[in-house]
Amino acid sequence: MKNTVVLIGAGSIGQAIVRRVGAGKHVVLADLKLEAAQSAANILEDAGFECSAVAGDLSSRESILELIEHARKFGPILNVVDAAGVSPSQAPVATILKVDLYGTSVFLEEFGKVVAEGGSGIVISSQSGHRLHALSEEENTALATAPTEELLSLPFIASITDTLKAYQYSKRCNVLRVMGEAQKWARRGATVNSISPGIIITPLANDELKGPRGDGYRKMLSLCPCGRAGTPDEVGDLAEFLMSSRGRWITGADFLIDGGTTASYFYGDLQYLKATH
Ligand SMILES: NC(=O)c1ccc[n+]([C@@H]2O[C@H](COP(=O)([O-])OP(=O)(O)OC[C@H]3O[C@@H](n4cnc5c(N)ncnc54)[C@H](O)[C@@H]3O)[C@@H](O)[C@H]2O)c1
Repeated sequence: MKNTVVLIGAGSIGQAIVRRVGAGKHVVLADLKLEAAQSAANILEDAGFECSAVAGDLSSRESILELIEHARKFGPILNVVDAAGVSPSQAPVATILKVDLYGTSVFLEEFGKVVAEGGSGIVISSQSGHRLHALSEEENTALATAPTEELLSLPFIASITDTLKAYQYSKRCNVLRVMGEAQKWARRGATVNSISPGIIITPLANDELKGPRGDGYRKMLSLCPCGRAGTPDEVGDLAEFLMSSRGRWITGADFLIDGGTTASYFYGDLQYLKATH
């Protein structure tokens, strides 16, 4: 038996993280598209990692439970990464809320029951959640602690009609939910944190840069404090630290890694974007 690393969402960010924490362990790669999980497994296996690839749907509790059963066959579940998600331009409101908000909450709840002593979890949220206005104390508490099955019926969630708002609320919920679950994970000797990336270059982001909105994107990137987009590896480096022995005093926290974009959106050169969000 080996320690097991589980990744759901086998895209660029998720792969960068498991490359850093998966050596000598069994890496389970799950994705809604089995071919995405399989292609990530092929790349990692050619780089010396032991992997298995499965189809897995973050938005389904049944699928998450099947993923846990699969992962347990290889050994204790030590590291878990939720890097699955759909963005505002990829899906309608209901899908964004079901995958990004509800699915991530199921992931935190179910993996929080099985994660091994000394383990760690990472959820990939987004800078987008930091752009949402401040919520009331009652709304924050509900997103952090309401029973998972009740989240989508909360009136202020059920009334969302705009895909960007659906994404922003989902990503804010990820951060609050991590706070709400941290105590339970700690009882098992495990940490859990979220990372909120800014624009990270992936095939999808590259398509945006080449597409009709490319000029707007380039202007925004050149005006942000760091003057460029981020890379999946930079997110991977942060996750590696949080999941390492040096990160054991860090749990229930969110880490914004966005080249200063959020700071600039509120108080710097990117304030012009407020008119469009
Ligand atoms: N790339 C960015 O600029 C950026 C910025 C901020 C946050 N994020 C977040 O990072 C995470 C990973 O995104 P990425 O950039 O690596 O994108 P990606 O498209 O490369 O990876 C996302 C993966 O999630 C999978 N997926 C979608 N729905 C799923 C579901 N229901 N169950 C299981 N898998 C599912 C997709 O098939 C895809 O392989 C997402 O949560 C995204 O919101 C990305």
